[in-house]
Amino acid sequence: MTPVRKTARANEDTEPEPDLARLWERVMTPEIEEFQPIEEFRPIEAFRLEPDCIWVQWAGGAESRFHHIWLRDNCPQGLHPVTWERIQDVMDLDPDLCPASVKLTDAGGLTVSWTDVYTSHYGADWLHRRRYDATARAERRLRPSLWGAAIADTLPEAQFAEIATDDAALLAWLRQVRNFGFALVRQMPDDERAGEQVAERISFLRQTNFGTGFDVISKPNPNNIAYTAIELKAHTDLPNREMPPGIQFLHCLDFQATGGDSLLVDGFHAAETLRAEDADAFAILASTAIPFRFHDREWDIRWSGPPIELDADGHVRGIRYHMALTAPLDVPADRVVPVYRALRAFTQILRRPAMELRIRLRPGDMLAFDNRRSLHGRAAFDPNSGSRRLHGCYVDIDEFMSRIRVLEGENLLH
Ligand code: OGA
Ligand code: ZN
Repeated sequence: MTPVRKTARANEDTEPEPDLARLWERVMTPEIEEFQPIEEFRPIEAFRLEPDCIWVQWAGGAESRFHHIWLRDNCPQGLHPVTWERIQDVMDLDPDLCPASVKLTDAGGLTVSWTDVYTSHYGADWLHRRRYDATARAERRLRPSLWGAAIADTLPEAQFAEIATDDAALLAWLRQVRNFGFALVRQMPDDERAGEQVAERISFLRQTNFGTGFDVISKPNPNNIAYTAIELKAHTDLPNREMPPGIQFLHCLDFQATGGDSLLVDGFHAAETLRAEDADAFAILASTAIPFRFHDREWDIRWSGPPIELDADGHVRGIRYHMALTAPLDVPADRVVPVYRALRAFTQILRRPAMELRIRLRPGDMLAFDNRRSLHGRAAFDPNSGSRRLHGCYVDIDEFMSRIRVLEGENLLH
């Protein structure tokens, strides 16, 4: 595993192109540093009232500030008691509202009486979990564990029998999928429903034009190169959709054929490598919508999106990449050559042997991976040498992340 820790820096000699300047700033800001666990909860020891905020001092000395408007808007008593949804409307907020008085409670929380005679109670834990200073926001961010070929020695995996019945084992396995962007399941029953059974331990399945569950076999008249025996280079599935599926499951039911080994690449690791090595190419791929298309006799499904998707803070959030589904580039003429250059630079990184995890699935193995992060593929196989059958299905990312939070009990914390 090669964690990327250093801040990617702009090459001082290279001036960003004018239309990339804003994005450049966003791209170059985030720090990818070592994971720091969130510090333990501490009660509030003191506070200081300022015109637009309350500064809170936690036991141990650290300080956080909370704006009056934020405190009043997020008053914990402001939720509907049954639905737990907010009933506060932003237009009902008085932007100049101030506390008339603030008191420390015995439990180390705060009671704020507002000038409009409303009173709010904030537990120390409630406030601590929501503090929004830069350090806290950085600590709260989920940090993917980046990996390369060497992860073959310590594959994240679980046994079917454990995760099928035991919620704690399921949670541990789901966290592996979340942190590494993939994990295996071993000793799956020899039953095409078994993969869907694991997926349904998370939630309902995502249906697509390929069905809800689909067989990956070499077949006559395929509408998809996955359904041939040819090599599949590292890709994400269905980038031609506005919302590509989140978690993909590939359960190996039968594998006698020669060749056909599976391939996985950590797209986040590859993107961070590109950011560090070729910031221009990274900025282009994060800001250029590439068209993708799937069409057959019944469907014509198209979407354009950047191969590297960033969140509002400039962190890599998703990868959208599939050579077989890339449609003709449709960008302003002066961008064509730079976009091809950037795509080739990214692809060159994705294909480095140090990036590629190659594993041979055996009947009873299942690969589950985050289709917005891990690219997958397979070597060509010889269909005359024996059979090869994988059974696939998807669960969307919202249901996956929600399942982790519910198993952790996060949903019960308002
Ligand atoms: C797929 C796919 C890989 C394989 O079905 O999406 O990429 O190993 N299959 O056949
Ligand atoms: Zn695929």
